[in-house]
Amino acid sequence: MVAEMTPVEAAETDLLPIPHTRTCTCASNHVSCTDAKEWIKAQLGVWQFTYEKRDVRDKAVHPATFPIALPKRWIELLTHRGELVLDPFVGAGSTLVAARDAERNAAGFDLSSDYVRLAKERLNQLSMLEASEQLAVQADAREIPRYLAPETVALIVTSPPYANLLNRHGRTRAAAARSGRTASTSRSSSTQMTCAISGCWPLMSMARPWVRSSRACFRSSGLAPIA
Ligand SMILES: C[S@@+](CC[C@H](N)C(=O)[O-])C[C@H]1O[C@@H](n2cnc3c(N)ncnc32)[C@H](O)[C@@H]1O
Repeated sequence: MVAEMTPVEAAETDLLPIPHTRTCTCASNHVSCTDAKEWIKAQLGVWQFTYEKRDVRDKAVHPATFPIALPKRWIELLTHRGELVLDPFVGAGSTLVAARDAERNAAGFDLSSDYVRLAKERLNQLSMLEASEQLAVQADAREIPRYLAPETVALIVTSPPYANLLNRHGRTRAAAARSGRTASTSRSSSTQMTCAISGCWPLMSMARPWVRSSRACFRSSGLAPIA
């Protein structure tokens, strides 16, 4: 009998040549390269960010970007230099730019070739520091396990494609139906997002304490990640 292969099992040769191990000299029990003073400052309930020149703010270029400073804060707070950051829905590549600034390796995925090109262009405009690598890949986020080895990702930072984006600008249900973007398309977008994030679960490094504890929660609850 020939076993039916899922797309993920079918091609395991697409692994990206990207490093994922620490290059810093922090103590092995430190959560990140962030020092105690910065860690305490980050405990503030509300974080404030200012836009910078490199941010994409033109909705015609990409309708839903976040400022580079936002992923950079999470990356610095929760990873070490040299570790691997993943953005499954990378859009204009803000997470990759932040990772470059913070000397973390990073991989970003997007369905749109235009956004992947834009992300690459933004990276090309930065200084060519040899310290880390950032890759933008055109692929469905549900296929990411083809590209990254298990337990190599230190942090996932993303802004996902919320289902209601499909019906933005006051589109009526009838107009959405005419263009093929029906309510059920919205629901399936949301399901796809859940599958994508859940599929990335085995990629997370067990060296991170919160990954170990949440895996234990999963096991004791009897729940399994959605496939
Ligand atoms: C909210 S945007 C991310 C914006 C990004 N944070 C930035 O600053 O540019 C979500 C992105 O997810 C992408 N996307 C939607 N479905 C996807 C899928 N199944 N796989 C990969 N990318 C997808 C869209 O093309 C869009 O660029």
